[in-house]
Amino acid sequence: MAKKTGADKIAGKIPALVAAAKEARKKAYCPYSHYPVGAALIAGSGKVYTGCNIENASFGLSNCAERTAIFKAVSAGEREIKALCVAADSASPCGACRQVIVEFAKKDAVMVYADCRGGKLTYTTAGELLPLAFDPKDAGL
Ligand code: THU
Repeated sequence: MAKKTGADKIAGKIPALVAAAKEARKKAYCPYSHYPVGAALIAGSGKVYTGCNIENASFGLSNCAERTAIFKAVSAGEREIKALCVAADSASPCGACRQVIVEFAKKDAVMVYADCRGGKLTYTTAGELLPLAFDPKDAGL
């Protein structure tokens, strides 16, 4: 039998992860953009962490949903993202979040974009998110 990929192992957990990201989106603090985003990730321990975007009147201080979820997980002691879902009207992590994701995700970690307008799910991997990424492992850091 072919070796199981990260995607195979996590597949059964994706519907709950998508639901958690959509639920987290309801908590978004986005009075400036009015663009709510939710994220949920499965960490190395198997635990799910969620996050939403948190904006600020000084716009540059705003934090994306993905990074909120990642920082919650890492500050709880986690060091690996096995799967991450982002839920928004047009769900796709920004460049800054992609760099933060590759810090903690193996290249085959599952990424799911949940489109909240039509309900479409798009699957990709952390490796595809940021091709030729600045990877601390490759850099020997
Ligand atoms: N945003 C996220 O939370 N995640 C993304 O991947 C893209 C953008 C937030 C930032 C800001 O609060 C709002 O969406 C509009 O850019």
